[in-house]
Amino acid sequence: MTTALDQDAIVRYEPRGAARELFRAREAEVFIAGPAGTGKSLACLFRLHLTALHNPNIRCLIVRKTAVSLGATTLVTYEKKVAADTIARGIVRWFGGSPREAPGYRYSNGAKIDVAGMDKPEKIMSAEYDLVFVDEATELAVGDWEAIGTRLRNGILSWQQQMGACNPAHPTHWIKQRCDQGQARMLVSRHVDNPAYMNADGTPTEVGRDYFAKLDALTGVRKLRLRDGTWAAAEGLIYEEFDEAVHLVDQFTIPHAWTRWITVDFGFTNPFVMQWWAEDPDGRLFLYREIYHTRRLVEDHARQARGLMVYPSGQWREPQPRAVICDHDAEDRATLEKHLQMGTSAAHKSVSDGIQAFQSRLKLQQDGRARLFIVRGALVERDPELDAARKPACTQEEITGYVWQVKPGGAVPEVPLKENDHGMDAGRYMVAERDLGGRPRMRTLG
Ligand SMILES: Nc1ncnc2c1ncn2[C@@H]1O[C@H](COP(=O)(O)OP(=O)(O)OP(=O)(O)O)[C@@H](O)[C@H]1O
Ligand SMILES: [Mg+2]
Repeated sequence: MTTALDQDAIVRYEPRGAARELFRAREAEVFIAGPAGTGKSLACLFRLHLTALHNPNIRCLIVRKTAVSLGATTLVTYEKKVAADTIARGIVRWFGGSPREAPGYRYSNGAKIDVAGMDKPEKIMSAEYDLVFVDEATELAVGDWEAIGTRLRNGILSWQQQMGACNPAHPTHWIKQRCDQGQARMLVSRHVDNPAYMNADGTPTEVGRDYFAKLDALTGVRKLRLRDGTWAAAEGLIYEEFDEAVHLVDQFTIPHAWTRWITVDFGFTNPFVMQWWAEDPDGRLFLYREIYHTRRLVEDHARQARGLMVYPSGQWREPQPRAVICDHDAEDRATLEKHLQMGTSAAHKSVSDGIQAFQSRLKLQQDGRARLFIVRGALVERDPELDAARKPACTQEEITGYVWQVKPGGAVPEVPLKENDHGMDAGRYMVAERDLGGRPRMRTLG
């Protein structure tokens, strides 16, 4: 596709396969789904960009579940790979937002592309759009998707459309169901659609070879979804009861009176995980903050953690945690205590009763609520290395792939697969602290 713009600016982009279909699609709801790195985001962004260039005064939207994740990924692709030339020529400019309008890109022909996270939807919910792109659409609840749909009534473009890009999730995900039921169209994107990774003859390019090696190294359900592109369920899921609609909650101001706890699972090559929990007066636990990062020293994590809790003056920003509950590595604990300037206690590490206690906290109680929650956006900072390796980058992303080991012959010995389980361990320490007695009380002084 070659498009002549004002004067001599040229955009070149060859959509293939599902990306090509996307450019012709006129349905009100379209999803482009497939394994990792097939060109889904690029296709949707080019569609927005080219439509904006050719249709003065239309209003578009790029949205993701959280504003932070959007800035780190989708918008980088837009600025570097899609709109770089037009930005350099001043045809597209960044607009930082106003009290009434979301930030976004402004085209010289009057077209606008707003950008927003569904964690702060107020401004987009009072605006009207012609064309919307939701990246990583599986992160959204169906309610988010439908709420966005109500904003598609700007009427300047002759067709209004909501596009979503995603990797496959579990087979009963609302996106899959919506497409199966005919409410939305699904375009299936494949690696052959991406000329950066696959040559026309079906062999991988050099860049593609490296990329596919990473996908080949994945295991379990992540491999099925991200390499093979299937809407696969994890076999032998340990926390089957985990339901994003129930257990993921939006951020809220945590009352000062709630008890705070910290749990830690040490790691360097594997992620170091530090979780902050708040406990309400009825004993419900909320994971409200999390460090989940590889290749940093314990002392650096400790300094970062302390900075999140304590002002440079030494005054606490939030209630002091009642305990810092750690994995048992003596040296790491000593380092953590020194730099956090706090004592730690050893976690109750037994696995199977800890898992059972965690499972029972996920169950809905008579009051209709569970007893363990993860607050959206708890992650302090995404680790780009984990993203590049397509590994879980926070506790929430581990839960839906945390499975029992399966022995040859199909026997399940009720032992979890020791893989992508770092947030699972730290979370289990928290639940064990509250629900299982007999934790070794080896408190050491910091
Ligand atoms: N048609 C194309 N021409 C040139 N490069 C492409 C094309 N399609 C994709 N690419 C490149 O391939 C890489 C992956 O593309 P993109 O990020 O759009 O994939 P994705 O399917 O959204 O991946 P993910 O599943 O990780 O979200 C990017 O570097 C992109 O620029
Ligand atoms: Mg993408």
